[in-house]
Order: sequence, then structure tokens, then C-alpha cells
Amino acid sequence: AFKIASLLILAYLLGSFPTGVIVGKTFFQRDIRDYGSGNIGTTNTFRVLGPRAGVFVFLIDFFKGTIATLLPVFFKLGPHWLCLIFGLAAILGHAFSIFLKFKGGKAVATSAGFLLGYNLQFFGICTLIFFPLLFLTSMVSLTSLIAVVLIFIASLFFKDLALSIMAGTLIILIYWSHRSNIKRIISGKENMVPFGIYYWY
Ligand code: G3P
Repeated sequence: AFKIASLLILAYLLGSFPTGVIVGKTFFQRDIRDYGSGNIGTTNTFRVLGPRAGVFVFLIDFFKGTIATLLPVFFKLGPHWLCLIFGLAAILGHAFSIFLKFKGGKAVATSAGFLLGYNLQFFGICTLIFFPLLFLTSMVSLTSLIAVVLIFIASLFFKDLALSIMAGTLIILIYWSHRSNIKRIISGKENMVPFGIYYWY
């Protein structure tokens, strides 16, 4: 139990690592939280600091989730559903970072990384849900909000109760973290990515 508890803290700390803030301050002398949507995640890094920084932040934030999810596998700890708890610890770390006074990102990239670590096949399906939606809506936020619900529904076909509970938890977390986005979407002021159907028309 002590081993599990200390590794869970490690997973939370890993998730807490504020990649976007560190990349902005180190390479651009800018605090990403003062620009664009103010978010520290992949989308806002692309928007404010450009594609190279965006890809970099995405990879780190994504694999934080994957590595944390796989900690029970690396350390040969108990049942597979334990991976969900570890993934959740990293996602909560990302969204409520101890290094940012318990503020943080919107949980999308780290959740995607968790999905990869937990179930490759399910991750593939989630990717097939996400990218067409992004192409249709041209909004990462709206895509994430729709995708997480569809991902929950898709999880029901996997007959993995723990996974569905996790997907349900992600719905709550992602709707909560996208509060400001939801307001902007409703008022037609949400930031768009420069591609996709909605952007072109
Ligand atoms: O990556 C999170 C995304 O869903 C929204 O980000 O910066 O547009 O609020 P942002």
C-alpha cells in the first residue's frame, strides 16, 4: 500500500509538470497564461508560441498521462484497473497543478495520453472520433466537449466498467475546465484553428 501511495503521488507530480508555462518562460520569455485563452495547454501554446512549441508541449503533456498510466505495469502492481487511478492522478495533476497553485490545463492532451497507455485499441477509436470533429468544428474546445461524450458512449461497448466510470469522470472534468470556452462557443466568440469546414465557410 505504501508503494502504491508513493507512486500515486509520483503520478500526480508528473501530471503537475506545467510544460506550457515552462516552455513559454524558458524559450519565449512569456507567461503563456497572459496570452490567448490563458490556458497552459497544447492549443494555446500553438496559438501563442507557434507550432514547434505546440508540438513539444503536446508530446510532454500527452506522455505524462501515458507514463503515469503505465506505472502499475512497470512496477507490477495489481489489477489493470489500477492504471485508471494512476492515469486519473496525472490528469488531475495537469488540471490542478501543485506548481501552479492548483490551477492548470484543461485535461485534454493528458487524457489522450492516458487512453494510449490504458488501451491501444480504444485510443485508436478515440482518435477516429476526435480528428473528424476537429475538422468539422474548427474548434479544439468544442471538439473536446463533443468527443468526451462520444468517448464515454464508445467505452460502453468495451464492457469495461472501470473504463466507463473513468470516461464519465472525464466528462465532468472536461466540462468544468472548459467553462470559459462554453461561454465563448455560445456567444460565437470561440477561437478557431485555421483549418476545417467551419473555418473555411
Ligand atoms: O486544449 C484545450 C482545448 O480544448 C481548449 O484550449 O486554449 O482554446 O481554451 P483553449
